[in-house]
Amino acid sequence: MTVKIAPSILSADFARLGEEVRAIDSAGCDYIHIDVMDGHFVPNLTIGPAVIKALRPHTTKVFDVHLMIEPVDPYIEAYVDAGSDIITVHAEAGRHLDRSLQLIRSFGRKAGVSLNPATPESAIEYVLDRLDLILVMSVNPGFGGQSFIPSAYDKIRRIRQMIGDRPIEIEVDGGVTAANARDVAAAGARVLVAGSAVFRSADYAGNIAALR
Ligand code: DX5
Ligand code: ZN
Repeated sequence: MTVKIAPSILSADFARLGEEVRAIDSAGCDYIHIDVMDGHFVPNLTIGPAVIKALRPHTTKVFDVHLMIEPVDPYIEAYVDAGSDIITVHAEAGRHLDRSLQLIRSFGRKAGVSLNPATPESAIEYVLDRLDLILVMSVNPGFGGQSFIPSAYDKIRRIRQMIGDRPIEIEVDGGVTAANARDVAAAGARVLVAGSAVFRSADYAGNIAALR
């Protein structure tokens, strides 16, 4: 099974972010997963559009931007201008998910939606045709290094069924390791986010290869 690997730079050395992005690029990653947290939707604060913009010249790989912020609509344009390729919003973070997804696509970017572990897949049933990516959270968002919540397997399988032949990628985020990557892919995911599993040791290429 071919999977894409999206290292989360949340686990990178923030004092050397440009260098870290170049390192995962040459180590063979597919996407660069960027976790944006606001200290309100999730209990942690990370980086914003200025940092993403500064990283943009360091790689040509896809910037997969995971927005854990509420509200989200007023900030979409800033993440477009920063150079995001995929912009993912949380289904729980706004009252008008359909509008948020239309807004992202109006800028010509790919639109994703993320579901927290407690959110059922039915939350996205009526927006499937507006989606390029579905991000299934397998931890409660906010921090790297947490353990994979097994109920995600069932959710991935159900989403796989729901999307039918639509060209939507299923991505999984949180607690993905070389030990469970095969099961995550078998359930139907095709993009694996990994923070600690990639940055755990200096051998990024080896860590990415182990996930594949
Ligand atoms: C969690 C973030 C994840 C996180 C994954 O809120 O969305 O992307 O960095 O980290 P690991 O792979 O360490 O669970
Ligand atoms: Zn993430």
